Amino acid sequence: MFNPLIVATPSHNYPIIFADDCIMATQIAPFIHGRQVLIVTNETVAPLYLDALVNGLTKGGEAATEDKPSNFEVACCILPDGEEYKTQQYINQIYDALMTRHFNRDATLVALGGGVIGDMTGFAAATFMRGVNFIQIPTTLLSQVDSSVGGKTGINHPLGKNMIGAFWQPQMVLADMHTLSTLPQRELSAGMAEVIKYALIMDESFLTWLEENMSALMRLDKQAMAAAVARCCQYKATIVAADEREAGKRALLNFGHTFGHVIETHEGYGTWLHGEAVAVGMLQAAELSYKMGWLSSADVGRIESILQQAGLPIRPPKIALTTAKQLMSHDKKVKSGQLRLILLKSIGDAIVTSKFDESMLNEVLSLHSTSTKQ
Ligand code: NAD
Ligand code: GLY
Repeated sequence: MFNPLIVATPSHNYPIIFADDCIMATQIAPFIHGRQVLIVTNETVAPLYLDALVNGLTKGGEAATEDKPSNFEVACCILPDGEEYKTQQYINQIYDALMTRHFNRDATLVALGGGVIGDMTGFAAATFMRGVNFIQIPTTLLSQVDSSVGGKTGINHPLGKNMIGAFWQPQMVLADMHTLSTLPQRELSAGMAEVIKYALIMDESFLTWLEENMSALMRLDKQAMAAAVARCCQYKATIVAADEREAGKRALLNFGHTFGHVIETHEGYGTWLHGEAVAVGMLQAAELSYKMGWLSSADVGRIESILQQAGLPIRPPKIALTTAKQLMSHDKKVKSGQLRLILLKSIGDAIVTSKFDESMLNEVLSLHSTSTKQ
């Protein structure tokens, strides 16, 4: 397995530890402050990985050593599974679990799950008693390569996704490849969209590597997967270290997301997975970059082909142009009423710009799949 990576942020530096072990409590225990631990997970992940973690932390198992006896007081909060539960109402369930057990400022929250659980647990940790320690154990590909690293936490509001949140960095991230073995294929593909994103915005040589290794990755070859996850975490750590609060470069991580959000919002959350919408959005952004004269048609072909190799959709559903433009106008990157898009000057070189040709954008948005769902 790869050596831990350090994420350097103004609040503190923390490690991303890579493993293939079925979540060893020994790796987590040194990062728990105090005795009180609340593990937050969901109804899908709990039957798969919760017992091993709780046993390791409580029963004198993996976490117990002579120096640090396993005397943690461990409680669990099991939430329903789904983006629709990423709301204030379900955050309250986490607060309830903490307060009914009289957990205090020394408590550590552990997120065991995908990006939904990670974002919610992080937000609860950022706000409970004005901020307590937390640990990320991401169990989806998307959360291992993106959401667990960098401290963006939050929940959805009925009027907008991820509109309520806080920057709150974890104490450590444990990316355990073993957990990916139970991930549904469609979720694996959705996570792969974010992997491909790093290649497109940061590093053309990583796209070449992905082209050579995509079939190994899609059959969960451990070496290839660990290499890809570690490389993505390195890209993300570099960006977060340079721009924790998204004043500049971090916005590039939203490549494909402005277009993708149009699909997610229009179709209703959950119909299209986030990564599927981002995949289509990245190709739309690439097509606009081509029309702007920056990418070649061969570049666009490469992007289309790698998305297809990862089992991802490439065309959006039919959405009226006026609706798409209206949905785009709600994007968080809109500044002084001006839409800003992330486009590619070349593969591996992304920019945030409001200087694009509106009629070209309209052409891109008008190109859709002939079926209603990809
Ligand atoms: P998710 O958390 O909904 O997980 C996807 C599905 O996989 C769920 O049904 C989940 O229960 C299941 N699952 C998780 N781990 C599993 C495993 N090991 N085996 C079997 N099933 C498993 O979705 P996601 O794609 O991980 O994350 C999406 C969320 O992340 C969105 O809410 C998005 O806004 C957020 N996000 C946050 C950031 C950030 O920087 N904070 C970045 C990107 C995305
Ligand atoms: N996933 C976008 C970010 O972390 O900034």
